Amino acid sequence: MSEKLNVVGIVGSLRKDSVNRKLLNVAKTFLDDSVTYSEMDISDVPLFNQDLEHEILKSVQRIREQALNADAFIFVTPEYNSGVPGVLKNVVDWLSRPLDKHGNKPLVNKTAYVMGATTGISGTITPQEHLRSILAYMGVFVLPSTRTTVPLVANHIDDEGNLELSDMTLGFLKDGIKNFVKYSKKLID
Ligand SMILES: Cc1cc2nc3c(=O)[nH]c(=O)nc-3n(C[C@H](O)[C@H](O)[C@H](O)COP(=O)(O)O)c2cc1C
Repeated sequence: MSEKLNVVGIVGSLRKDSVNRKLLNVAKTFLDDSVTYSEMDISDVPLFNQDLEHEILKSVQRIREQALNADAFIFVTPEYNSGVPGVLKNVVDWLSRPLDKHGNKPLVNKTAYVMGATTGISGTITPQEHLRSILAYMGVFVLPSTRTTVPLVANHIDDEGNLELSDMTLGFLKDGIKNFVKYSKKLID
């Protein structure tokens, strides 16, 4: 780890007005100044094709470099038909493959926080569990014992399109992000 914990946010939605990005934008306000933060732009990442994994694809190179330099990730997953959206799984698949001849894998031995928002009642519990299992398989340490879900998210969008979370949800999110930073600093040296 460099002087500051480097946290990268990844949203599994390409939608301009994504509620999951709005959730990430609230979460990032709880990161303190011992952390550097950036969001990963996944909008131009092509579909994974094993024939192309050793090609120099600009967008893939960019996300790999950003992930390699990261210590920790905040994943925000929408729920598509009770699962992780394809665009998010696609990015994880690209990041699971060796970067170079030294076999550097950008996600391995890093930490992650998982959360999400849905218009339905489920609040992304199922895709979160799915994503946790994918990340665990890949050697990513996901903050345990924390579930950040926002069900019925349309009820929390005001007339200007801002996400207005209840004090209780904000409290859970704040505690979760603070614990995540502590957890990451303990695990990443
Ligand atoms: C293909 C598709 C499948 C969806 N499946 C579910 C679902 O299983 N459960 C649910 O609560 N919402 C579901 N939704 C609604 C999403 O929760 C909603 O569109 C949400 O705003 C997506 O996140 P975003 O705004 O960050 O893109 C689905 C939406 C799409 C486009």
